[in-house]
Amino acid sequence: MANIKFVKENREVIAADGANLRLKAIQNSIDLYTLKGKMMNCGGYGQCGTCIVEVVDGMENLSPRTEVENQKLKKKPGSYRLACQTLVNGPVSIVTKPSARKGQGKANAAPSGNQKENVGDDLGNLGSP
Ligand code: FES
Repeated sequence: MANIKFVKENREVIAADGANLRLKAIQNSIDLYTLKGKMMNCGGYGQCGTCIVEVVDGMENLSPRTEVENQKLKKKPGSYRLACQTLVNGPVSIVTKPSARKGQGKANAAPSGNQKENVGDDLGNLGSP
């Protein structure tokens, strides 16, 4: 059994060993995708790169990065994974949508009242290739 802690959402989910991280998130109504990902994700086949998450604790309890991840994440920090390619074998802490984060330590911060900031980030990415 593995505990998956979703840091931003302040939720903890229990998973069987070998559970797929993307599926566990979806089954528990954890929102993995930015607006772009919601509109055009590949459904978990490792093709779109929109299910990206940051592993802040327990990387050793996840399956190794796949070849697809090595390609899609080559310019990202080593702590980033594609949820759809990741199997959970022990306790982990996960930050969803890490690129939408505005800096360290803000994951649990109270909303600033500037909700438009995040919407703009999502929309701003729509035009990029
Ligand atoms: S859902 Fe497309 S790469 Fe994970």
